[in-house]
Amino acid sequence: MQKEPDLKMPSRASCLSRVGVLLAAVLVTTSITMSGEWGEEGVTYGQIGKDVTLTCAGGSSSSSVTWRWNGAPILPEGSAVHQGQLFLAQAQRNAEGLYSCHDAGGTLLGSTTLHLGRLPEMPSISCQASDYENFSCFWASSVETFLPTKYITSYRKRQLLGNGNQSSPSGDVRPCVQDPSRPFSCTVSKSEFWSTYRMNVTEVNPLGASFRLLDVTLHAIIKPDPPEGLRVDPVPFAPQQLLVSWAYPSSWPKKPSFQLQFQIQYRPIVYSSWSVVETGNLSKVITDVVAGLVHVVQVSARDFLDAGSWSEWSPEAWGMPASGQVATVGNELESPAEDPSLAPNESVATGRSDPTEKVAVLVLLGVFAFFVLAVILVFAFLMWTRMKKQSKEATKNHDLLAAAIHMKALPSECNKVLKERHSSFYSLID
Ligand SMILES: *[C@@H]1O[C@H](CO)[C@@H](O)[C@H](O)[C@H]1NC(C)=O
Ligand SMILES: *[C@@H]1O[C@H](CO)[C@@H](O)[C@H](O)[C@H]1NC(C)=O
Repeated sequence: MQKEPDLKMPSRASCLSRVGVLLAAVLVTTSITMSGEWGEEGVTYGQIGKDVTLTCAGGSSSSSVTWRWNGAPILPEGSAVHQGQLFLAQAQRNAEGLYSCHDAGGTLLGSTTLHLGRLPEMPSISCQASDYENFSCFWASSVETFLPTKYITSYRKRQLLGNGNQSSPSGDVRPCVQDPSRPFSCTVSKSEFWSTYRMNVTEVNPLGASFRLLDVTLHAIIKPDPPEGLRVDPVPFAPQQLLVSWAYPSSWPKKPSFQLQFQIQYRPIVYSSWSVVETGNLSKVITDVVAGLVHVVQVSARDFLDAGSWSEWSPEAWGMPASGQVATVGNELESPAEDPSLAPNESVATGRSDPTEKVAVLVLLGVFAFFVLAVILVFAFLMWTRMKKQSKEATKNHDLLAAAIHMKALPSECNKVLKERHSSFYSLID
């Protein structure tokens, strides 16, 4: 037996037979031989789970042909050689590899690399537009084929609103352009807002092809990018207001007929539920924020005429309302109900308007009021006992009538005493 020829550097004879293999193509029943188109020469593709037959092109004297798998004479389990052909029953992926056929002397007659995979299935498609001039479609394979795969992407445009071009109800097939830097997507440029596009994404691999169609209208799929440059600023002297401002997404071409509307969501950072307001402007004063708390704000955009859908929310921006220090003490007393709700969050508030301060002021005022009241009560009691004494003495000294007359005069007497007491009280304090 001769030394077997190196497969990488075959002899001249094996080169010739190899050319013969390529010309005649290794004959297959359920496998496909490709050369060039899929980037590899001498490769055979077969379907997983199906019978695969490899035929040795150079083996006319068929009975003397022997097969090797990855250079060794041991063939995969379940394989059989019959009249020079190699049969692989219900081939699985572990039967992949380099197969070579040799004559009785061991000379290489031909070789092929077997790859096993699946037929393509309909890919899934979705399309989106972040502006009203171009849109893109994205797709994903719905089955792992293990094989080299290409996608053919095209569309056919259909006018929805008759504009005199009735002769071609369904237009020419045009390519949806694929950009190699963005795989699994293609773009339709200069698209029309009111037209319907029938997209065709065809998945192709060496075993076959499968396409999926999708009807797309730009005004239904349009979804702007989020607004940019979001800012949250305090409004001077307004502890319950925040000024929120932003800019159009830079991807949105600005034309008067294609404007955006916006919605803003906001919440104190320690709460979990959002409040939402809408506007057509590029700024908004929110008038019901919680004084003294940091707020988180996001904004999103949508076509002004409600076409398509809302954008994703912009990145968050944070802001805190102006502190209420300019407000008078009287104002603070008018809204004491706020304080208990603020108290648990005081650790989060950054201390510019400390809620405990308000509580302390309230308590002090209460204590002071209580003292004043107590002093007045004590004073009134002393007065009352003294008046009683005086009136008793009067009854002793006068008859009933005189007493009655005296009673009339008493109030002025009382007043006098009261005044004296007052002045003595205040001089005492002084
Ligand atoms: C849409 O595509 C055209 C052509 O490719 C390009 O000139 C234009 O800038 C694109 N418009 C936007 C908003 O990206
Ligand atoms: C979709 O595109 C593929 C590949 O170009 C083509 O073979 C197929 O006929 C197209 N399908 C339709 C319905 O146009």
